[in-house]
Amino acid sequence: MQGVGPPAERKGSTRSKACRSGLQFSATTRRAVARPHGLWHHSSVERPHVLEFIRHRDGVWNLPPDQLEGLRREFPSVAISSPRDQAGADRTLPVADIVLGWAVNPSNFAAASRLKWIQVTAAGVTPLLFPALVESDVVLTNGRGLHATAMAEHALGVILAFARKLHLARDAQRERRWAHLELWSDPPAFGELSGTTLGLVGLGSVGSATAERARALGMRVIAVRRRPASDPAPADEQWGPESLPRLLELSHWLVLAAPLTAETRRMIGPGEIARMRRDAVLINLGRGQLVDEAALAEALASGRIAGAGLDVFEDEPLPPESPLWGLPQAILTPHISGLGPRYWERAVDLFRQNLRRFLRGEPLVNVVDKRRGY
Ligand SMILES: NC(=O)c1ccc[n+]([C@@H]2O[C@H](COP(=O)([O-])OP(=O)(O)OC[C@H]3O[C@@H](n4cnc5c(N)ncnc54)[C@H](OP(=O)(O)O)[C@@H]3O)[C@@H](O)[C@H]2O)c1
Repeated sequence: MQGVGPPAERKGSTRSKACRSGLQFSATTRRAVARPHGLWHHSSVERPHVLEFIRHRDGVWNLPPDQLEGLRREFPSVAISSPRDQAGADRTLPVADIVLGWAVNPSNFAAASRLKWIQVTAAGVTPLLFPALVESDVVLTNGRGLHATAMAEHALGVILAFARKLHLARDAQRERRWAHLELWSDPPAFGELSGTTLGLVGLGSVGSATAERARALGMRVIAVRRRPASDPAPADEQWGPESLPRLLELSHWLVLAAPLTAETRRMIGPGEIARMRRDAVLINLGRGQLVDEAALAEALASGRIAGAGLDVFEDEPLPPESPLWGLPQAILTPHISGLGPRYWERAVDLFRQNLRRFLRGEPLVNVVDKRRGY
């Protein structure tokens, strides 16, 4: 760790006092001042201090050490700390101008009195959307776009697996069974993607990458998003959220690629499932809480819809007692659709680009609308 130790004049909690009082911060404390999101000048920060804290319990989402060393070599004028654990992150937070990762939480945010910017490499930012952070002038940037290729290929992979019944063939393989007749004659029938309709909920970076690939396979692509554009590309049609019922009725494949927000939480419940085609397959890559999971498990078990490809769940890890584990018509993956061979390279490139912008006083890219939640 380098340069750790809070400057005396910033000890205490400028942030918490201002947040509690709801007052505007003064220009000298640089708190809740009105200014365009993501714009500073580096002269306000003598030697910017980055606190890197991308730590995950099973190590999957941890920043590789060589990437961190690369950043240190490339930005000698920036102090970069990389504490081992949350206690170390808590100690460093008072001197951090920038957090890369997940160091901040509701209980330590008040101590982050110098913090100006948080960059996370995930697209979903729900854990950081607590009131004090949302109300503050700390800019939050996310990893929108980093996962698009992997997730689009994952969506198409799952769709192809269902169309070709690959999951059922693998189940038979495990039992050393030549299921030739069974795979042909048992429902569901083999599918063909060309001519089927893909319904996308969310047409951001993941939805758009999925739409492009699906259209190349001859699928018709319709999408709902919060702010539909007049030009439907890369979908064939795009509509506002009020058209979700129409999209549900038309889609053979329903891919959820929306963020978890107040508007999208449990957007697919029993009523929405009842509108879906009986031969439809639901693929959730967004967040588990977009779907009423109990209602989905019931719909799958009763044959109300044909299948589900789930990468995200209400509780992760998915508890062993979940009925989803035992359903042959479900393909479950443990939140891995965003992973790919170039993930960290792209993530560090994004941070590098934003850090350069920060140092030049330019607006950052991938700024999250903290009130909207994405
Ligand atoms: N499984 C994983 O490993 C993994 C990895 C990365 C991301 N994700 C999830 O995937 C989500 C999408 O990622 P992304 O990079 O594509 O994000 P993004 O570029 O921000 O796109 C989000 C899309 O959702 C749309 N949306 C927002 N509210 C909506 C609503 N109420 N109804 C319908 N659409 C709505 C947005 O509409 P507008 O474009 O009109 O604003 C936008 O098109 C993330 O938020 C995250 O939850 C999961």
